[in-house]
Amino acid sequence: MRVYFDNAATTYPKPQQMIDSMVDYMKNIGCNISRGVYEDAISAEDIVYETREMIAALFNFDLAENVCFTKNITESLNIIIKGLIKENDKVLVSPFEHNAVMRPLNKVKAEIIKLKLNEKCKFDEQDLINQLENEIKAVIVSHSSNVSGDILPIKQIGKLCKEFDVPFIVDSAQTAGVLPIDMKAMYIDGLCFTGHKGLLGPQGMGGFVISEDLIERVGTFIEGGTGSKSNLEIQPFDMPDKYEAGTQNLPGIYGLNASLKYIEEQGIEAICKKERDLLKYFELGLLDLKSKHNGFEIIGLNDNDNKTAILSLDFKDIDNAVVSHELQSKYKIQNRCGLHCSPSAHKFYNTFPQGTVRFSLGHYNTCKEVDYVLESIKAILNGL
Ligand SMILES: Cc1ncc(COP(=O)(O)O)c(C=O)c1O
Repeated sequence: MRVYFDNAATTYPKPQQMIDSMVDYMKNIGCNISRGVYEDAISAEDIVYETREMIAALFNFDLAENVCFTKNITESLNIIIKGLIKENDKVLVSPFEHNAVMRPLNKVKAEIIKLKLNEKCKFDEQDLINQLENEIKAVIVSHSSNVSGDILPIKQIGKLCKEFDVPFIVDSAQTAGVLPIDMKAMYIDGLCFTGHKGLLGPQGMGGFVISEDLIERVGTFIEGGTGSKSNLEIQPFDMPDKYEAGTQNLPGIYGLNASLKYIEEQGIEAICKKERDLLKYFELGLLDLKSKHNGFEIIGLNDNDNKTAILSLDFKDIDNAVVSHELQSKYKIQNRCGLHCSPSAHKFYNTFPQGTVRFSLGHYNTCKEVDYVLESIKAILNGL
């Protein structure tokens, strides 16, 4: 049997209604929006606006027009970082950041300062205050680590950013659709999301939600046709056109629209509970295995209430890549080995440069699959 435990890379399978919606658009609608004003174009435009409204509602934000679509969170982070940060600007990040944050920051030659976290993922409040007093241009953090699943206390960080009027930008790649995110309660100015992970949409779909204040500070990224103010040869500053030049990914937006409806039907709390129950079941199985065969370490917090559904293992007597490959080739267990595009996080967990074997669960996974994975790891360890 095929077991898919790589949901942190992209979720699989996707809800059938998401696939149907994309097919429906391509078969029956197919036209562009914001250009022609015939009936199908207007109905497509309604779906796009409804999708913005659903994203705004999901993250408790008032202005649907401040929801911008991109091709993924990497593009969203690039737009915000490159539109806001200049050479030598100080930017505070968590030790968990993905290269989708680190590479654009390095490209613009920002001065990157890492937030100090203890092993329980708690930060030193006074240290953050000291940093925020020190001309920080922005604070950018991942809501949860894609290496370990550990969740950061973004509400506390956001509150302090607000006090010091420092823009607070969150990478929700691993949490959107899985954990509640409230931009108001968490004081988030820029919320970047990707459509194809917890939001259960297709690849090629992402976006960001941006506060009125941050729009003033973030310049345009690409310029081009928007279907609006076509008399002007400069990019309009109206939202969302300011950040959305060129034809949008309409099949992707239709897919995301349907997957958001699916998430609403299921309920984020129910999705989170299902994933946490599976995570707990998997972790208990691993701890039992470890008590008999102490051949690996589990990375990150031992606290399911503060984790997304990821378990990363560092094997001691056998190369991680060998375990990962054997799980894939012999047992058809799809997992991901290596540094997961987050060398910074692996340095924090002392798993750099060897990386880990990462198992990431989704709400379609089952306890039966977890049992099979545990049995397969056991067989590999026993074969040593
Ligand atoms: C924390 C985090 N940020 C950013 C990304 C990049 O996501 P995408 O490839 O959808 O842009 C990922 C994907 O693995 C991630 O886990």
